Amino acid sequence: MKKKVTAATLRAAKEQGQPMVWLTAYDAGSARIAEEAGVDVLLVGDSVGMVNLGYDSTIPVTTQDMILHTAAVVRGRKSAWVVCDLPFGSYQQSPEQALATSVQILQQTGCDAIKLEGGAHMLETVQFLSQRGIAVVGHVGLTPQSVKQFGNYKQRGQSQDEYQSIYEDALAIAQAGAVVVVLECVPDSLAAKITQDLNIPTVGIGAGKTCDAQVLVWHDVLGLSETVPPFVQPYANLRKDAVAAISAWATDVRKRL
Ligand code: KIV
Repeated sequence: MKKKVTAATLRAAKEQGQPMVWLTAYDAGSARIAEEAGVDVLLVGDSVGMVNLGYDSTIPVTTQDMILHTAAVVRGRKSAWVVCDLPFGSYQQSPEQALATSVQILQQTGCDAIKLEGGAHMLETVQFLSQRGIAVVGHVGLTPQSVKQFGNYKQRGQSQDEYQSIYEDALAIAQAGAVVVVLECVPDSLAAKITQDLNIPTVGIGAGKTCDAQVLVWHDVLGLSETVPPFVQPYANLRKDAVAAISAWATDVRKRL
């Protein structure tokens, strides 16, 4: 049986230059499949709102939604490290609010870590949670919970100022005690620089190949999404297969076969 993945496993993998594989999961069945495929970390992203709940952004996702899906993933996992996103509005008010939400999620789901979006402005919160024994995963670059502010899901860090501030955000988050930092949609060179300069693992999504780990959304890897981000290469076309299979069955039903 595979040894349980922990924060220490992720640190050791970085030291050994061994890339780790993260994948989003939202239910017990997909957690089991991902683990059978050798995935190390299951991220219950608030992307659940867009890929499973039908919202057009992650903003409407609630703490209760995250608890429901994370508890299911934890029931399905054997050895993977399970990370749960803190949803929009559940942690930005104060470090105390973030602690209350994290405790609720950790106690009610059995997951291993929480993830929160944001750089410099979240430092106090990252430190507050870390000092209280919570494994915090940071998330900088494209932060989907700020989509209303940015107006799009395009790559961040294209201007020199933004490039520099994302670099500083990642370093500061690590110094504040985060155990891992996700780099979403930033230039490859920036992800490489952050990965080299940080002593905690980086996880890239649309951030080149140099990060210590890679993460993708379940539906994107399997070709289940109607549209995929430009940096994603689907490894299957399950949407097409599902439509064909259901149509074939529907035809048989209609012919009483
Ligand atoms: O919500 C999510 O799935 C994420 C990943 C895309 C990093 O945050």
